[in-house]
This record gives sequence, C-alpha cells and structure tokens, in this order.
Amino acid sequence: MKELTLKSKVCVYSYEELSEIDRQLIDKAKEATNRSYVPYSHFHVGAAARLMNGTVVTGNNQENAAYPSGICAERTTLFYANAQYPDQPIETLAIAARTEKDFIDSPIPPCGACRQVMLETENRFKHPMRIILYGKKEIYIMESVGTLLPLSFKAETME
Ligand code: THU
Repeated sequence: MKELTLKSKVCVYSYEELSEIDRQLIDKAKEATNRSYVPYSHFHVGAAARLMNGTVVTGNNQENAAYPSGICAERTTLFYANAQYPDQPIETLAIAARTEKDFIDSPIPPCGACRQVMLETENRFKHPMRIILYGKKEIYIMESVGTLLPLSFKAETME
C-alpha cells in the first residue's frame, strides 16, 4: 500500500492586508448579496469576477420552489461572465455570504458543483483563476481552482 498526501496552499488574510483591487472585488461580491433571490434559505451569496480586461461581473444565488432548479452565486456569475465575454479569462473570483443578520465569520466554502464549474472555467481559458473566499474574521485566497478540487474529473480524463 502506498499513501498519497494531497496538499493545498491557502493564504489567509485580513481585509486590511489585501490590495485595493482585491478589496474592491470583495466589496462588489458583498454588494451582490443584496440582489440574491433567497425566499427559502434566506442565505444570501454574492460573487464578483474580475476578467482579464478589467471588467467586473457580479452574480448571486437565485432560488426556486422546485429547489434543485435554483442556482448558486458562483455559477450565476461564471455562466454570465462566459455568456457575455466568451474570450475573457477570469482573473479573480471573489465570493461572500451572509445570513439576514450579517456576513458569516469564516470564509464561504463553495459547493461541489460550483467547484466543478470553476475548474472548467479555468481550464477552458488555460489561465489560473484566483479565488477569494470572504469571511468577516478571515479571508482565504487560492491561486487556482485546483486547490479547491484536487483529484478532479476533467475533459482529459475521458481521453
Ligand atoms: N449557495 C451559493 O450560492 N453558493 C455556495 O457556495 C453555497 C450555497 C446557495 C445555494 C442556496 O441558494 C443557498 O446558498 C443555501 O444553500
């Protein structure tokens, strides 16, 4: 038997330690939570994608009475960015989440389906996508999606 240890590097920051441009992206993700449609979970998630050309696209979670028909903030944002700017790699994606009361303390962990879509977005442009997970107490930054989804299924797997 051999053992395989998978390592993921995550940098942990406070809001004050971040660059102005990253802080602005987080602020846009936080602001996007105000436009979510969440009558069932009351959990507001927002995301902001900074494209290589500097454009910022935002999105949020949109729920539905038939629960699986809703969609997370990350996928709303990535699919919208790709629908509008199909030639623009995404340089950084910031995600923030709050209850009705306040933003959550720890960094928001994206769901598995969103991680898979993030990976495909990164792969289609062959450009690493930085991920910023906002939490009130600390902020996680990853230099690429692989960190969030090791041992991933991708197109090459089928070759
Ligand atoms: N949600 C997101 O939008 N992103 C995540 O990373 C986790 C979960 C949404 C889906 C649903 O509208 C609500 O949060 C509760 O699961």
